[in-house]
Amino acid sequence: MTIKTLEDLFIHDLSDVYSAEKQISRALPKMARAASDEKLIEAFNTHLEETQGQIERLDQLVEATPEVRIKRMKCHALEGLVEEAQEIIDSVEKGVVRDAGLIGAAQKVEHYEIATYGTLRALAQKLGYKEAARLLEETLQEEKATDEKLTIIAEKTQ
Ligand SMILES: [Fe+2]
Ligand SMILES: [Fe+2]
Repeated sequence: MTIKTLEDLFIHDLSDVYSAEKQISRALPKMARAASDEKLIEAFNTHLEETQGQIERLDQLVEATPEVRIKRMKCHALEGLVEEAQEIIDSVEKGVVRDAGLIGAAQKVEHYEIATYGTLRALAQKLGYKEAARLLEETLQEEKATDEKLTIIAEKTQ
């Protein structure tokens, strides 16, 4: 797509994160199965539920913002991050070391999402999409909380 305006950029980034969330919802069950620590498995499963809620929230955003329509695209960054998580699963035996690798991989995903949702929220505010900005803020806070939870699990298990 051609991007000329902030509206175009907002739609581009929103479509990108929609693809990212879909990829994450497919990766999290695999990551949960590959993990050993119970708290980590629980964190992955909880975040899977949150991620499904975040996809619904993106649908709500589109409904509440008539100017916006999601375009079909693939988030290449997430494709790469999911591939790296898979490499960890393939190359590290199940146990504490793999768990540490999985936490790192998951935190890279969260940081990507935090950056993306932060940008999207700022763009929504600038464009006067108030309900969109509110919904994006909700998801941003969930991503930040997940990142913090993963840090706590990492500190306890290593
Ligand atoms: Fe997410
Ligand atoms: Fe997330």
